[in-house]
Amino acid sequence: MVRRCTSVIAGRPVEGHPGGLTSSTNPAHLDDVVAEVALGDPDTFVRASLAAKAAQPSWAGVPAPVRGRVIAEIGRIVEANKEGLARLVTREVGKPLAEARGEVQEIIDTCDLFLGEGRRLYGETVPSEMRDKALFTFRMPVGAVAVVTAGNFPVAVPSWYLLPALLCGNTVVWKPAEYSAGVATALYECMVAGGVPDGVLNLVLADGITTFEGLRRSLDGGLVDKVGFTGSSAVGSLIGELCGRHLQAPCLELGGKNPMVVMPDADLDLAVDGALFAGFGTAGQRCTSLGTAIVHESLHDEFVERLVAALEAAPIGDPEEAVLYGPMLDERFAHRFEEYLSSLVRPHHRLCGGSVGRISSSSPRVNFVGDPDAGIFYHPVLVDGVRVDDDIARTETFGPLVGIARFVDFDEALAFANCSGYGLSASIYTTSAEAAFHFRSQIGAGMVSVNNSTSGAEAHLPFGGNGKSGNGSRQSGKWVLDQMTRWQSVNWDFSGRLQKAQMDTDVITADRGFHLSWESPPLHAP
Ligand code: UN1
Repeated sequence: MVRRCTSVIAGRPVEGHPGGLTSSTNPAHLDDVVAEVALGDPDTFVRASLAAKAAQPSWAGVPAPVRGRVIAEIGRIVEANKEGLARLVTREVGKPLAEARGEVQEIIDTCDLFLGEGRRLYGETVPSEMRDKALFTFRMPVGAVAVVTAGNFPVAVPSWYLLPALLCGNTVVWKPAEYSAGVATALYECMVAGGVPDGVLNLVLADGITTFEGLRRSLDGGLVDKVGFTGSSAVGSLIGELCGRHLQAPCLELGGKNPMVVMPDADLDLAVDGALFAGFGTAGQRCTSLGTAIVHESLHDEFVERLVAALEAAPIGDPEEAVLYGPMLDERFAHRFEEYLSSLVRPHHRLCGGSVGRISSSSPRVNFVGDPDAGIFYHPVLVDGVRVDDDIARTETFGPLVGIARFVDFDEALAFANCSGYGLSASIYTTSAEAAFHFRSQIGAGMVSVNNSTSGAEAHLPFGGNGKSGNGSRQSGKWVLDQMTRWQSVNWDFSGRLQKAQMDTDVITADRGFHLSWESPPLHAP
């Protein structure tokens, strides 16, 4: 029987489907319907925001260490259900099982990090410039947080927002991608089982336009105090504009065109492995996926040859098997990828390897696992001969496509690596510490890998980008606490009189004309 997923407001499933009915299907087996999804309308979003706003003061009143215990319980529940959740990720978005297990592990790691933060969430005591006066800082929750996430990391990336938001005493309206509504509902259920009270976490299933309208009305009504968004740069800038009107700084995690520079002294096997994983893992549908490999001319031909051979040998197909990658997340990504394939490749480019486009019985692939006609599978594409001013060097293609460019000197490679206007993740393969540190200091990306691929961030380092990749906000690790709280500074005067800052401070007298009177005799020659 197909599960029906609905929005949940204040603990109660929303009846009906004012925004229509859709279904979420398995992209590797399109006849497998994972969930029937009842979509909400803008009013659903507004009601969820009202519920979050109403629940926020009492949730903020729960001591932070107790909120930390809830996070701990969620972690244990997710851990106990790791395999089931991972299989659901694979079934619903087609990510290979090994990657799906990693994705669920990322939620557990995030819980492990934040459960202890409930006992820290430190403020500071700060010395005052006056006597009998004390200064303090306190972290205050922001309020009700609206979190809108994509389906390529349908549960790990949402957990980067939801867990710290809740830990800090905020309440949440979460709008996951419609095409991953099943696994989003499963995570929601784990969080409720962990002890999140009704109204503290509300789930809204809706399409993008509805969500935007619901968010606009919620912001106008003063019901949302912070927005977290992971998705495209185009939508991110619309959300940024909307939040700006309300003087809010959203947390935006957007696209990337992530470069990998292969220096002449690189370990070539390592670089090829990195390109394979970052370029083609999740079928290239990560925001950290490799965009362009920028390879020194001395290694270029060898790099291409090895990468082509590695790709040819790699199994692609059924994501329940050990494959390099499975299907596209959903038909909409396949359509957009096809548009890129037809619009970005130029006559001076060389397509390496075999066929391009959809894998099917009429366009087969040798190392294919399963039935290509059952799902949305694409041939891997390597576009060699990419130049710095090509559109393909600047466009996030979100599919199994990697561009390859060659360079002669380091400055040229750096200029190429910085050319796209995005700035999420960048990597360099080199055995020179000097080159690695120079790269780190010159690259515009928020995340830098040395001898590692552009993908695969750990859950306790800041995650985020610059330029078109975001607005400078950072998720993950302790750094996200600055997104989910605001500093309150407190001064407490216990002198019993009005002491005016800068005016009633102790006066120090100094002799500014002072000069040392020590005279040293000239040094004796030996
Ligand atoms: C994303 O694609 O939105 O570092 C996030 C990585 C993953 C997260 C990617 N842990 O590739």
